[in-house]
Amino acid sequence: METGRIILRPWRDSDAPALYKWASDPEVGPRAGWAPHQSVEESLEVIRTVFCDATNTWAIELKETGEAIGAMGYGPSCNCNLPARDGEPLIGYWIAKPYWNKGICTEALGLMIDHIRCMTDIKSLISGHFIDNPASGRVMEKCGFVPTGETVIDETQYQGAGRPIRVLRLIL
Ligand SMILES: CC(C)(COP(=O)(O)OP(=O)(O)OC[C@H]1O[C@@H](n2cnc3c(N)ncnc32)[C@H](O)[C@@H]1OP(=O)(O)O)[C@@H](O)C(=O)NCCC(=O)NCCS
Repeated sequence: METGRIILRPWRDSDAPALYKWASDPEVGPRAGWAPHQSVEESLEVIRTVFCDATNTWAIELKETGEAIGAMGYGPSCNCNLPARDGEPLIGYWIAKPYWNKGICTEALGLMIDHIRCMTDIKSLISGHFIDNPASGRVMEKCGFVPTGETVIDETQYQGAGRPIRVLRLIL
């Protein structure tokens, strides 16, 4: 999947140094509820165990540099603590901070939504963002997601417990 400036493609082991460079930034992971990466080895482990399903998880590669600068994907919502419908996937994404506010995430999410519409019979998608991370909500709204309410996750999750979350849904 591609646009003029980005490609969504499977993660590769060779992305580990770039993943570590961007995902070790404390401005990125905590906004999405995950801890900054601590080493290239940890990033490689994430590529092999979390980013390993090429049918629903992609690196966002910037064509200009050939480097992975973010992630886009969807998967089961059963453990996410959001009020998801039966079988409704959860989406997730992040972009390296130097590339924020250039429309890249909106472009990447649009590609994934087109892919899901064409290749699956998924009827809707759910996601949520911490209230203090409005940029993420803006990305979803620009792609057609509609707010459905707020929730608070009570499970022990990295920087997640107790922080209000705004929930959005896209009907496909
Ligand atoms: C959220 C994130 C993925 C957005 O990526 P991005 O490529 O910068 O997104 P885009 O440029 O496509 O769109 C960002 C939008 O948010 C808006 N925005 C940025 N900061 C904002 C703020 N403080 N308040 C409100 N809107 C804001 C931008 O103006 C833009 O909207 P616009 O096009 O209407 O002007 C990126 O900031 C990120 O990776 N954050 C850390 C991880 C994360 O939050 N992941 C999502 C977890 S739910």
